[in-house]
Amino acid sequence: MTESSFSRVGVVGLGTMGAGIAEVLARGGLAVVGVEVNQDALDRGRGHLEVSTGRAVKRGRLTEEAQREILGRTVLSVDFAELGDCDLVIEAVPERLDLKRRVFAELDRVCREDAVLATNTSSLSVTDIAVSTRRPTKIVGVHFFNPAPVMKLVEVIRTVLTEPDAVARVAGLVRALGKTPVTVGDRAGFVANRLLFGYLNQAVAMLESGHATRDDIDAAMTAGAGLPMGPFTLMDLIGLDTCQGVLDAVHAETRERRHAASPLLRELVTAGLLGRKTGRGFYPHD
Ligand code: CAA
Repeated sequence: MTESSFSRVGVVGLGTMGAGIAEVLARGGLAVVGVEVNQDALDRGRGHLEVSTGRAVKRGRLTEEAQREILGRTVLSVDFAELGDCDLVIEAVPERLDLKRRVFAELDRVCREDAVLATNTSSLSVTDIAVSTRRPTKIVGVHFFNPAPVMKLVEVIRTVLTEPDAVARVAGLVRALGKTPVTVGDRAGFVANRLLFGYLNQAVAMLESGHATRDDIDAAMTAGAGLPMGPFTLMDLIGLDTCQGVLDAVHAETRERRHAASPLLRELVTAGLLGRKTGRGFYPHD
């Protein structure tokens, strides 16, 4: 069981990231409340959870009984009021500030006054979200990496308003879940994305210039630099729309050329070729 100062944790939004985060929390022994906007989205979220834990069972990493317990610890609902008893809620809805602010206004209304509210944003300002609530001292960023059940890093983001105790408790939870927290200030891209996306964008520019092919660039970085995935395979995993969003946010802050999203990336996003989630990005996916 997880030793954490939080015992009941809510997750709002059960897409790829939200469902992965809910799984990590439930596997850590916490009671989880997952909330989605409608029944269809909720059913998709339940599907993500079942497939991901089912894969762990098939690989012999989880017993069927443990899978049943994990799913049993996870309450899924379309009613925000279910989050009223949570001591921490993690928001993982799409990366739109207006949407996130609406979600936080609702969380502010339904959640206990002492509850900590966290956003899994990868590219928006946590401070912008915090000031839309009546409890900005209790707002933190908690940035998981894709795939959340596998990647060890979680960036814990403090704003100038966040109380140190909220940051320490969230970092403690991350550690209790067997992951590695790093605490960072509220700057676009935080640490990992600010470094990673300049490289990913350079790979697209290299492809576009005809310098090397997609497959050769990917091979160079896996076989030559020892990375688990080449840049194009990784961008397809992350989602090209997310990649563009991160680059735009980092570029708006740094104004550095390496962060100006490459035209080819923009073209693919406009065309709706977003990577694995739409069946095609830099690669076709069945
Ligand atoms: N959900 C749950 N588990 C998954 C998974 C998923 N989507 N994908 C893989 N796994 C698990 C597998 O079940 C397997 O677990 P077991 O060892 O317990 O069986 C393990 O991960 C390894 O998987 P595979 O053998 O299938 O594949 P792999 O060895 O190629 O690893 C990978 C897959 C973990 C994704 C690896 O390729 C990798 O680390 N890639 C880089 C990922 C990365 O850099 N992510 C960060 C992106 S940036 C980001 O997310 C930030 C942002 O804000 C955009």
